[in-house]
Amino acid sequence: MEHAHHPTALLPGDVRIPLLGFGTWQATGETAFKAVLAALDAGYRHIDTATMYGNEEEVGRAVRESGLRREDVFLTTKLPPERVGQERRTIEESLRALGVDHVDLWLVHWPPSEPGALIPVWREMLAARDEGLARAVGVSNFSTGQIDELIQATEENPAVNQIKWSPFLYDRQRHIEHRDRGVVLEGYSPFKTSDLSDPVLVRIAAAHDVSPAQVVLRWHLDHEIVAIPKSVTPERIRANADVFGFSLTAEEMRDIDALGNT
Ligand SMILES: NC(=O)c1ccc[n+]([C@@H]2O[C@H](COP(=O)([O-])OP(=O)(O)OC[C@H]3O[C@@H](n4cnc5c(N)ncnc54)[C@H](OP(=O)(O)O)[C@@H]3O)[C@@H](O)[C@H]2O)c1
Repeated sequence: MEHAHHPTALLPGDVRIPLLGFGTWQATGETAFKAVLAALDAGYRHIDTATMYGNEEEVGRAVRESGLRREDVFLTTKLPPERVGQERRTIEESLRALGVDHVDLWLVHWPPSEPGALIPVWREMLAARDEGLARAVGVSNFSTGQIDELIQATEENPAVNQIKWSPFLYDRQRHIEHRDRGVVLEGYSPFKTSDLSDPVLVRIAAAHDVSPAQVVLRWHLDHEIVAIPKSVTPERIRANADVFGFSLTAEEMRDIDALGNT
């Protein structure tokens, strides 16, 4: 895969996020290290981790071992909800574990449950960005209403909202709400929330001589939605990155969108 031609989305601060990233939840230790190294070798240039995943050291080691330049790999990590109030310490720990002086994207992993905590945590994220510890900051698992609270209080929109997304969860209105607010939609669990034996996916996959999993990823990219498939299996890591040699027709996109209504 030729990474120079990977599609990206533009985040505030002139930061470009590759639309295809590599998920690392539930991969730890040597398995995580090898998976991330294989992903970088297969051409991914965007790795998604989190304090909660317990694999930041392995992710950082794989990036160094890959021989790629730091600026050529987009790194995301996330603040766990129980670390609200300790934001600065948490990002410093993430940077130390990753072995980098900044991440490209730092996310609030889940909205904090304490009443009144939403705005203070967002101000801390912005402060970390302003100090150069993260090039962009955003949220995960936020509702549109919660995003609006952040924007009203600070006039700063989250760069992304990372939420569970797939053809089977497709919600056109929610996508538009993000676009209207300048928030890039980043989908997670594309396969776990998909029925890869669904006849629509199987038919479209056959038409392009690809797999239903590849159709699911291509559908994200054609909607300009970030996809971060996870795998620790070398063949799947490679296949999930091999989604740039075909594109879906408008009619196929509509048929896949319609899976969200079933
Ligand atoms: N912000 C959040 O709250 C949040 C929540 C969940 C996930 N995430 C992020 O999103 C990433 C992706 O989501 P996820 O890990 O939940 O689920 P996923 O990427 O939808 O699915 C991963 C599962 O699918 C399998 N798989 C991978 N490629 C496949 C293929 N081509 N065909 C069939 N099966 C395949 C993997 O198996 P093998 O690994 O055994 O190959 C693994 O069991 C996570 O790793 C994490 O980085 C974020």
